[in-house]
This record gives sequence, C-alpha cells and structure tokens, in this order.
Amino acid sequence: MKNLVYIALGTALTAVSCNKQISSTTETEAKDNQTFADLDKARIKHLSLDIETDFDTHQIKGSAAYTFENNQAKQLILDTEKLTIDSVLLANGQKTTYRLGEKDSIKGQALIIDVTPNDTIVKVFYKTSPDANALQWLNPQQTHDKKHPFLLSQGQAILTRSWIPIQDTPSVRLTYDAKVKTPKDLLPLMSAINPKEKNFEGVYTFKMPQPIAPYLIALAVGDVQYQPIDNRTGVYAEPGLLKAAAWEFADMGKMVTAAEKLYGKYPWEQFDVLVLPPSFPFGGMENPRLTFATPTAIVGDRSMTNLIAHELAHSWSGNLVTNSTWDDFWVNEGFTVYFERRIMEELEGKDYADMISVIGFQDLETSMKNIPEKYTSLKVNMKGANPDDAFSDVPYDKGYLFLKMLEDKYGREKFDKFLNQYFSSHAFQTMTTEKFVDYLKANLTNGDDSFVQEWIYNTGWPKDLKKPTSKLFDLTEAQLQQDITNGRNKVAPKKVAISTKSTNEWVHFIRQIDTTKNTKEDLAYLDAIYDFTNSKNPEIECAWFEKAFLMHYDKVNTNAKEFLVNVGRRKFLEPLYLALKESNQLDLAKNIYKDARPNYHFVARQTIDTMLNYKP
Ligand code: BES
Ligand code: ZN
Repeated sequence: MKNLVYIALGTALTAVSCNKQISSTTETEAKDNQTFADLDKARIKHLSLDIETDFDTHQIKGSAAYTFENNQAKQLILDTEKLTIDSVLLANGQKTTYRLGEKDSIKGQALIIDVTPNDTIVKVFYKTSPDANALQWLNPQQTHDKKHPFLLSQGQAILTRSWIPIQDTPSVRLTYDAKVKTPKDLLPLMSAINPKEKNFEGVYTFKMPQPIAPYLIALAVGDVQYQPIDNRTGVYAEPGLLKAAAWEFADMGKMVTAAEKLYGKYPWEQFDVLVLPPSFPFGGMENPRLTFATPTAIVGDRSMTNLIAHELAHSWSGNLVTNSTWDDFWVNEGFTVYFERRIMEELEGKDYADMISVIGFQDLETSMKNIPEKYTSLKVNMKGANPDDAFSDVPYDKGYLFLKMLEDKYGREKFDKFLNQYFSSHAFQTMTTEKFVDYLKANLTNGDDSFVQEWIYNTGWPKDLKKPTSKLFDLTEAQLQQDITNGRNKVAPKKVAISTKSTNEWVHFIRQIDTTKNTKEDLAYLDAIYDFTNSKNPEIECAWFEKAFLMHYDKVNTNAKEFLVNVGRRKFLEPLYLALKESNQLDLAKNIYKDARPNYHFVARQTIDTMLNYKP
C-alpha cells in the first residue's frame, strides 16, 4: 500500500520535475542478451560501495548505492548471482520493496527494486556467497610468499554481478567510489586511484573518476607492495616477487609512451600492474589503472611482456571504446591484439612482433578446429548462451588478421590516422560491430564494404588470408630437424642452455614436433639436450608437456602434475587436459584435476569440468 502511494506521488512529481534525458546512444544500442537490466528505463551513472572483506567466511558484506538516470521507471532492475540481499533503501533512507526474479543458469537472478519515476538514488545492503563466481579466496599456501591469504576478483565477462548487484552489461558506463575494510595485514587495490601502502585502520577509500563498464570494476586484497617504474607506471606484487616483477616489466613506461605515439594520450593517468598468485585464470586483465597479471609472465628474460602491452592496449580498445555487447567482443580483442603487436614492434622490433603473430596464428588454427563453427565468425550471436562458451582465439587473432589486412590495403600511415581518430571520436562510448563498419566505410575505405561479409560475418577462414611468417622461427624449425636427425643417427646429445633462444622461439620449436612422425625416443633425445622437462618457464612447460602427454612420454608426468596443480591460467590448462583426454589418459587427467581443482578460479573450473565431464 505504502508503495502504491509512492509510485502515484512519483508520477505526479515527474510531470513537473525535469528528469534527465536518457543518453541518446540508447536507440542505436544493440540488445545485450546477458543482462536483466532495462536500460531504456533506468541507467546507472555512479556506484558507491561500502564493503568489508571477511576472510573467515569468504564473503564480501556491505552496501552498494547507485545514482541512476530515471526515465519514468517504476523499477530498477539489477543483475545478481548468488547474492543475499538484506535490504534496499531509497534516497530518503526509507526501505523500499524488492524481489529476486527466477534463476537463470546464465544471467543469474534479476533484483527488481520498486522505485518511483522520481527516484535517482537507491542503496542495496547485501552479502556475497562464499563461492561467488568472480571471487577467488586463496589461502596462504596458494600465494607466492605463503604467509597471507589473498582475494581477487575477475569481472569479465558477466561475473561482476556475483560480487556487486549491478546492471552488468558493457553498454553501461559508471564512475565509482568505494570504501573497503580489510584485515590490517593486507592491502586492498581496485581499478581506481590506489593506495601505495597499508594504513593502520585497515580502511581504504577509492575513486574511479572516469566512467567505465561494470566488468572493469575490480578488487584484489593481499600482502602486496608497490614499486614505481616511472612517474605513471609501477608494479604491485607480494614482497618475495616484487623485485623480479619490477625487473621483468621495467619497460612499462616506454610502452605507454609508444602506445600514446600511435593512438593518442593515455586516458587513465596511471598504469600499474598487479601481479597475482598463479591461480589467476588469465594472462592478464585490463582493469583500468591497475592491470591484473599472471606471475607466469615473469620468465626472467622479459620475453613475455607483450602481455603487458596487450593489457595496456585495452586502455584504448576496450576500456575507452568498449564492445557494446559480448557479441561484439572482437571489437575489444581484435583491436587490442593488433595494437599490442604494434607496441611490441616499436619496442622490440619487427622480428619479435612477427614471432607473436605466428604464435597467435597457430592458436587461431587450433581454435578453428576445436570450437563450434558458429563461433568462428568475428561477430557472433550468443543469445541464450554464456559469453564464455564463445571464448576462443577467433576474436583475438581473426580480429587481428582483419585489421592487418586493412593496414596492408590502405597503408600504415592512413590506417594509423584512422585508428587514432576512431579512438578519440568514440572515447568513453560503446561500439557495436555495425557502428564500426559504418565508421570504417566513412573514414577509411571510401564506401567499400566488399570485405565486411567475408571477414566479419562469415564463419571459417576468409579467402584473402595472409599468413604471418617469422624469420627467427624458420631458423628454429631447421634446428629441430637437425636435432632429430642427429638423434636418429645416434649422435651423442650435448647439453644446451635454454637461454640460447627466447621463450617464443622455444615454444615454436616444441610446437613443431610432429606427434604423428616423431617418436618418444625423439622427445627423450631433445630432453637430453635441452632439459625441457625441468624447465621453469611456464610457456615452455606448457608446450612441452602437451607434446609429452600426446606422445605418452611419461617422464614429464610428475613435473606436469605439479605444474597443473600450481598454475590456474586457463590458457595452459586447456591444452594440457585436452592432450590427456585425446591420448586416452582420462583417468590421469581426472586424477590430476581432483588435486588441482581447488586451486582454480571458477572460470577455469567451468571449462575443465565440461571438458572432462567432471562432477565434483
Ligand atoms: N580481457 C582479456 C581477458 C578476458 C577475456 C577475461 C574474456 C574474461 C573474458 C585479456 O585482455 C586478455 O585477452 N588476456 C590474454 C592476454 C594475451 C592475449 C596476451 C590472456 O589472458 O591470455
Ligand atoms: Zn585482451
């Protein structure tokens, strides 16, 4: 009854009050099938978090207050997943009614809050579930220094709703502030202006002044310290890893400068990297102002720093110009891979950029073979599906090849100018595939759209494909053939230090081993020379263990198991478990997985559960 009065009152007031217009982008916006939000009615503009991290119960508890544009809305609909809602207040501090909708296996549950068309502020008191999809609560054993627990969040693609009730769609942009209370021996960090050291109270405030998509709201809490690289870049890591991390990523400042030279001023002021424990499911995550990164990129020779260039590139492609829905994910990743390789070419030269392009192409070939045909186009349709189901190298490397094709066709100079303008004219906006195509036709191709169907909408390989090549890799291939011939001719193996080549060269070398032509004896011979089985370089380990599994070279099994138990990066887990599965070693796979699974993040578990048909 009380609510009815409110609504009536609200409607009456709207007639005279002047509610802000909903942003005009609404009409051109694509439908996001992965959210319950009704953006035509209400659109969040600012979020204010007041939360506490409870390491005993593995819960985040507190409140989220929203400022939203209200277009005659009687409800504010938020996305939630496994959240407990305690109460909901309006601006006047009065409670309002709300309900949780039916559970959807992909979207979670709608939180439907009754508001009046006059309301623009709502506050939700809530708690997360101990198994919130976004959050990983690590015990000290699962960290580098093994002394303190650690908490990390991973929002992309649709996991933010499991730790914050939110309109969880990339077409929303909001600023946020947060007050975070943590245990006193830990430092909280967010995708925001960050503290550089711990304080005595264990209470920290954060501010993200530029509007970002909800999947980019991020939190990590751990015993970490900061080491600046220059006046706008630096590294956070556990004390025992900080020195190595800062050395490995020492070129971050140069990367930002190189990136700015290409596509305009760095839009987020600060670019820091947080090195996470090894169970972090991705190589990197482009959380604005604070990229999250895997420690497996710290290989000791700075050869994997393209990962940092990649996340930095997202500062433009993704964070500044954002895919409108997850169907347009290639708009984030394809541009970013192209940009990543341009940054690396600037810093390390063309030979390096060529190597990572070939590696990426090989990954694309694998994806094309393994994923459902319908997900081999750049633009996809994921209605009724989980965005993670479509995740593959297609948006990355097919996207890259498309942009590279445009560069080749129109010339680098023209293409750079085009991209520079594209970013500046769409800054802080969302981008659909269609909007990009229109912009491309108007600003680069002079109306020509002959390649659009072939590259963007068709599945499979495009006809006019130019395969990347690498001179350094050609040498590597020759070396492999020579070694194998020597082995078969019983030439005594002579130990060679792995440092004679860079990580990518070794990865390529190992990838060229032909599981149908080469034998276990060939592997043993290579191992006698290079000692791959005992390598401590995760890229080399992954490539080698994969071949070893496929060829039943069991000598690696102890080390491979240790690797799979310690590392939770999905890019490594997928090929290794798949190799076990495809070589009829499903029992071994399940055996390892049983011990390793507790160390994996939800997204990695989901992938491997499905692959191995594993029921916990
Ligand atoms: N944004 C992605 C990671 C991501 C994508 C998380 C989709 C969740 C859903 C990130 O920028 C990325 O692509 N990381 C790569 C880095 C690599 C291409 C250098 C990774 O994690 O391997
Ligand atoms: Zn990316």
